[in-house]
Amino acid sequence: MTDVGAESDRLTRVDRQEPLLDVIDLRTHFQVEGGIVKAVDGVSFTLDRGKTLGIVGESGSGKTVLSRSIMRLTTGSNVITTGEVRYDGRDLVTKSTKEMQGLWGVEMAMVFQDPMTSLNPVVKVGRQMTEHIRHHLGVSKSEARDTAIELLRSVRIPEPEVRIDTYPHEMSGGMRQRVCIAIALACGPKMLFADEPTTALDVTVQHQILNLLAQQQQDRFMTMIMVTHDLGVVAGRTDEIAVMYAGKVVEKAPTNQLFADMRHPYTQSLLWSIPKVSQPKHTRLNAIAGRPPDLISPPKGCSFSPRCPYAQEKCHNEEPPLTAAAAPGHQFACWYPVGSPENEAAYEKNLAAGVPQTLAAAGKLQATEDLGSTIDLLTNTEGADA
Ligand SMILES: Nc1ncnc2c1ncn2[C@@H]1O[C@H](COP(=O)(O)OP(=O)(O)OP(=O)(O)O)[C@@H](O)[C@H]1O
Ligand code: SF4
Ligand SMILES: [Mg+2]
Repeated sequence: MTDVGAESDRLTRVDRQEPLLDVIDLRTHFQVEGGIVKAVDGVSFTLDRGKTLGIVGESGSGKTVLSRSIMRLTTGSNVITTGEVRYDGRDLVTKSTKEMQGLWGVEMAMVFQDPMTSLNPVVKVGRQMTEHIRHHLGVSKSEARDTAIELLRSVRIPEPEVRIDTYPHEMSGGMRQRVCIAIALACGPKMLFADEPTTALDVTVQHQILNLLAQQQQDRFMTMIMVTHDLGVVAGRTDEIAVMYAGKVVEKAPTNQLFADMRHPYTQSLLWSIPKVSQPKHTRLNAIAGRPPDLISPPKGCSFSPRCPYAQEKCHNEEPPLTAAAAPGHQFACWYPVGSPENEAAYEKNLAAGVPQTLAAAGKLQATEDLGSTIDLLTNTEGADA
């Protein structure tokens, strides 16, 4: 039986144009032999309808676990999830798997990193699509086939009437990812998660797929979360960016604001690690010094402190809280934020002391001119067609 009071409360909130997604202090921890992996550790954000949020961070920072936790796809006896995920006014964390099944595909869908693992290699593309469409929409076989052909056309697969009867291995990587996008879009979800949707693809195809996703998002007024380790992928394609490190959001801002005035040293390091256009061929990539932290026993204080060029005593002892910057919507968690006099003093002090990660950063800072042109290039995504 529907709880009429709760439903009317939900509708009232929806009427007030509450954000489609409101994540509050979400934590997903895994109990493993060696202890507890704090993969997502107190993440909060809101996302308005029709907007795109980019979630950026290195491998292991918790991006996938965060996305899967929001969709309630992270299950198992060793998983401990706490906090709230309010989607369209409903709390998802307390929903049963059966209730969630009613939302998957229809309300929220996901495009995964590797299309070969999400498509069945021994089943023709058409059958994979029509089964999904029939399961969710309850339409006839021929209606589902017509819908599948139209979907393939909408994601720009040439000759969809022919392609529908091919196997995934007969398609290129880009085509397979287009099929995955078509399947994710099949039931008209309000919200789409794209988890590293282009990592397995070459640069040109990557650009086309990102443009396709952006186009579909606009046409369908979808809300989107785009997950990537590459700051370049989300620049110019998202409304907001959340930077994750060791299971936490360490900086969050509207995209333009982030590129105009990034405050967190880790965000700065992610920018440094993007190859520069002016670099000669075969230049070594600027990897971030050190390794991502062990999530079972992260460093005391700021978890970026062992790798940070500006780290001071306080950083090794006290964890910086996520704090509001002057610009609306901009937050960061750092005691010595980039661009502040305290940051400059910390840098000079570490440089004089010969701190290795500061010496490494010194070389990268010399490329400041390049950074300006890199940002210009990143934030201008006009170019190849979808
Ligand atoms: N089922 C699990 N059990 C234990 N630990 C897990 C499990 N799933 C993920 N983790 C750990 O959680 C952390 C975050 O993983 P996650 O997959 O979210 O990283 P990511 O940011 O998506 O990285 P990548 O860019 O490589 O995809 C990692 O340390 C990972 O090993
Ligand atoms: S300056 Fe300190 S608080 Fe800021 S990121 Fe570096 S180590 Fe963390
Ligand atoms: Mg991942």
